[in-house]
This record gives sequence, C-alpha cells and structure tokens, in this order.
Amino acid sequence: MRFPDGFLWGAATAAYQVEGAVAEDGRGPSIWDTFSHTPGAVLRGDTGDVACEHYHRWREDLDLLAGLGVGAYRFSVAWSRVVPSGAGPVNPAGLDFYERLVDGLLERGITPMLTLYHWDLPQALQEAGGWAERDTAEHFADYASVVHARLGDRVPYWLTLNEPYCSAVVGHLEGRHAPGLRDERIAVTAVHHLLLAHGKAVAALRAGGVTGRVGITCNLTSVHPASDDPADVAAARRLDLHENRMYLDPLLRGAYPDDAAAHYAPVTDFGFVRDGDLEQIAAPIDFFGINYYERHHARADPGDPDRGWQRVPPERPTVTGIGVHPEGLGEILDRVAKEYTQLPLVVTETGLALHDYAGPDGEIADDERIAFFDGHVRAAHDALTRGVPLIGFFPWSFMDNFEWASGYGVRYGLYYVDYPTQRRHPKRSAHWYAALIRANGLE
Ligand code: NOJ
Repeated sequence: MRFPDGFLWGAATAAYQVEGAVAEDGRGPSIWDTFSHTPGAVLRGDTGDVACEHYHRWREDLDLLAGLGVGAYRFSVAWSRVVPSGAGPVNPAGLDFYERLVDGLLERGITPMLTLYHWDLPQALQEAGGWAERDTAEHFADYASVVHARLGDRVPYWLTLNEPYCSAVVGHLEGRHAPGLRDERIAVTAVHHLLLAHGKAVAALRAGGVTGRVGITCNLTSVHPASDDPADVAAARRLDLHENRMYLDPLLRGAYPDDAAAHYAPVTDFGFVRDGDLEQIAAPIDFFGINYYERHHARADPGDPDRGWQRVPPERPTVTGIGVHPEGLGEILDRVAKEYTQLPLVVTETGLALHDYAGPDGEIADDERIAFFDGHVRAAHDALTRGVPLIGFFPWSFMDNFEWASGYGVRYGLYYVDYPTQRRHPKRSAHWYAALIRANGLE
C-alpha cells in the first residue's frame, strides 16, 4: 500500500502543550495560564508552566523529528509571545523563537505547518470579553499579519485556527477548557467570532502577499443515528449541526446551516452576524485541515426531546472514554470531498491516548497505538483510492504533552516524555511510524 510521491507525513504539537517557559522573554499570560492555575480545572492541578520545556529543548526536538523522517511538522505560535496583550505592542523576542524554530526545521529539510491559534487567547483579550467580542477577530487578523511579516517567506502552510468547536463549545458551553464558561449564548457568539477571525486573518495574509497555502483545521466527527426511530434520527441531525455543520457550512458554503436559526433560537437570534461576515468567513482557502478522533451514535435525550441528544457510549472505550473507529475517518474524508469542497485535505491530527509506561527492558510497547495508526492510515489510503484529494497525515502527537484538562495524566506521543528528567524516548510507535515514512506506505 503506497502513498503518492510527495505525500506529507508529519507530526503535530501545540504551543501551550509543549513549550513551558510561560514567563520568559516577554510572553504575556494566556487564558490557559489562568485556567490551568484555577483550582479544580485541570486533573491533579497540572499546568503548562514547564510542559516539555520545548522552548529551550527545541533543537533536540527538531533532531528527533528529523530522525523520524517526517516531511512536515505542525506547531502553533503562542499569540501572547508575539503580542503579549493580544493587541498593541509586538514582542520581537517572541517572533525570534518561532524564527529559530522555522529555520531549524528548514535546515533539517522539514516543512513547517504553522497554526496561528491553538486555544491560547491572550488573557488581556479575555478580560475585554474574549471570543464573545467581535474586536477579538480584528486583533487576531493584526496578529496574523505580524507573524506573516516575519515568517511569510519561509512557511509553506498556514492554519488560522485549530478546532474552533473546542474553543467555542468546550471553552464556553461545557466549561471544561479555558475560559471555563457555561453559557450557550456566548458559545454560539464565540463560534461566529472565531470563524470571523479566520476570515479576517485569511484576508490579512492575502493582503500581506502570502505565498504559502492558507487553511483552517476543524475537528470533525462522524455522526450516525443510533436507530431509525425518527427521534434518534433528529437527535443525530442536531448533534451533526453542533459538531460539524456549524463550521463546515459557513467556511465552505458561506452560510449557516438551514436548521441553525431554529435550533439556536432559544439562546440567540444570530444578531451578531453583520453584512459581509459570511463572505469573509468563506473567502477562498488553499487546503482544509481535519482533526479526527470521534465517531458518534446519537439517540434522543428524553430529558430534552426538542434540542438535546445523547451519545451512545462506545463498546470499548479508551482511556479518554472515546472509542476507536478508523472507518469514521474515511466517512468524514468522503463527506467533505463530496458535499463541501474539492480543496486538498490534510489530516492535521489523529491519535490515541494511553497510559504509556516503560517496561523492565526500557521499551514503551504501545502496540495499541500502532494498531490505531495502522487502521487510520489504511482508512486514509482507502479514501485516496476513492479519489479524495488527501495530501498529508499528521499523527497527534510528536511527543507526550500537556493534554489540557487531563494534564499530564494521558499520553498521545510517538515519543515518551519522562517529565522529571525531560528525557524523550521513542515508543514502539515511533519506530513503526519511521518505517512507514521510509516506505511511504504499509505492507
Ligand atoms: C485536539 C487538539 O487540537 C489537541 O490540542 C489535543 O491535544 C488533541 N486533540 C488530543 O485531545
């Protein structure tokens, strides 16, 4: 099973999850600093204060990436390193770090894929209302221009946002992520302002003469009704609106879905949408990123028959409670390519959390992760043979890191991080992945 020549095999991380050094070289605080230091917010009180010390160990980390043989590395820029208050003065030392990183990648023959926003809003902007405020979208576009002015000549792939669903919904409705709000009206407002921020950043990058490809990454789920009972079918349709169509439709069709106004009517009349917003949100992009983790079967929620849903628990949950369903990746790739866009697609993340540990021989035998990636790589290849224009695949994650509300309690890395010593050890999956890349495919 061979992949096309030039297929982009990568690995992914995000700033707050790996960098540490949160108070160094002029970095301003972000909502994740505040949230992770809020008692009870993160498992065991873990924070990203130190994380993987990637801010200082980036050279060694880039050598490990080169050793894996990846063609590309997806990382994110911390907005508050570059613009410490989110708006206003730029901190050149913050840009210097990402310039070193990008140059280090290029020296090693690795293509940088840069995410501008991976959930770490500058705290000062949160104090001004955060994603509930339209101004945040303007500030994001300004920040995008600043990063582009320094790195535009060297970065071939730009992602505006990572998973706007998680920023909006997990952060503002479920309260499990920063800023920890539980308010559906604010969450839907945040969806719009995040999408608008994407659109304005695309415009800013184009105005700056961007030569790289510009895109966005959405986390998409494959949603099925638990039965053909009309109540379950309607619940699945609502869940699909909530998790997928609220992002896909405005970004790739220039309109919120037909059922959005009625579904959200009890909380908002979408009065935050202004003339021209949807055109801006749907401005042409060059590739579309997909993060895939979850496949859901939805059934009606007897406690909320008109607006709710329940997700049927997976038969074999993994440590994060979700199941393993490689076929869901194929379903999503087909759907996006058939129903939404002919753009090149990139799997910008997929991965499996485990409680990895080193055996007596020192080996980290993560065979379940290998099986996970094997299944998902095969699903990606099957999609390619059906004509889906997939151009890359990025396992989450290059190394173990701060897993948001789960702290360091679960591990996703190809490399194991021994936090007390900060040593990195390749897991069995890292060797497996390196062999896959060398062969550009699987046996
Ligand atoms: C999606 C997010 O982009 C990433 O930050 C997170 O660690 C992984 N999923 C795993 O949950």
